Amino acid sequence: MYNDKKVVFSGVQPSGNLTIGNYLGAIRNFSTFSEDYHCYYCVVDMHAITVRQNPAELRRRTYETLALYMACGLDPEKNTLFIQSHVPQHAELGWVLDCYTMFGELSRMTQFKDKSAKNADNINAGLFTYPSLMAADILLYQTELVPVGQDQKQHLELARDIANRFNQIYGETFVVPDGYIPKEGAKICSLQDPIKKMSKSDPNENAVIRILDSKDDIIRKFKRAVTDSGNEIIHGEGKEGITNLLNIYTCFTGKTIEEAEKEFSGMGYGDFKLAVGETCADSLQPVRDEFARLMADKAYLEQVMSQGAQEAYKNARRTMSKVRRKIGFTELKH
Ligand code: TYM
Repeated sequence: MYNDKKVVFSGVQPSGNLTIGNYLGAIRNFSTFSEDYHCYYCVVDMHAITVRQNPAELRRRTYETLALYMACGLDPEKNTLFIQSHVPQHAELGWVLDCYTMFGELSRMTQFKDKSAKNADNINAGLFTYPSLMAADILLYQTELVPVGQDQKQHLELARDIANRFNQIYGETFVVPDGYIPKEGAKICSLQDPIKKMSKSDPNENAVIRILDSKDDIIRKFKRAVTDSGNEIIHGEGKEGITNLLNIYTCFTGKTIEEAEKEFSGMGYGDFKLAVGETCADSLQPVRDEFARLMADKAYLEQVMSQGAQEAYKNARRTMSKVRRKIGFTELKH
């Protein structure tokens, strides 16, 4: 903590068009912290290159992700919005923390196992050490709270372990962060395989609702969502498809699952899916409109990027010089 306020940090990879999983599990919660915390929201382009990216697309998505942050309600005057690769201390601390992270710990990360199965021809070292770079992101700003979806819980626990280990060796250096995983929306599932989480890199477009999909696309995808052979709109085991749709509906409306079950009682699956699709599309419409407006003003996005990088750099530099001193790196005197 460098100002009076405690710090919140979170990041999103610009590795694909963002989904309602990213929105409901993470981004839409970000602005709730803006008044009480110093919030850093980062577009983690360095994490994105652990999987091969097309350079032009990566650049475009980096702008888009920044614009989406703002379209989802993040005011750049109240939050530090920035791009990870613009602040070199992320890479610097990432390397240092690599040396305090165990091979065994990284080998146990389920995201590494999943991603290396999916990218068998490119299991690079960055994919493996991804979580220590993520720990660096968080620890650089002396973060107290990290709002993320369920799938990042394991990475967050590792970040805590790394912070504790470093503090034990060198004395208090890092704040040990806590995760903030929302009660609702922490795991939005695929519409085609509702046991799996919805993932922005899913090759099956019907499985994923993107924040920027048109209303027609959203409704079409919901209509095709996998359900079950029954006819009751209730949540529970064996009804993962319906449970996921009810979950999405309640996230957008603020209703409870029980209220939603009552509302749809007696309705057919087709009408139910249409209702969920319409609710989702209508709720996202203001985000899409604001996004289009922001993307038309690239100069403004560049100004936000540069303001955010400067602000982040100031605080990242303080932590990094503390770390350098503690581990025994020499200082340049001239
Ligand atoms: P990423 O880019 O995969 O996802 C961004 C955020 O969206 C959440 N999320 C979901 N929540 C609910 N349901 C889903 N289906 C779903 N899919 C994704 C993620 O949990 C995440 O909060 N490693 C991170 C990025 C990162 C980061 C950080 C996060 C890098 N450094 C430091 C926090 C702090 C990632 O790959 O997120």
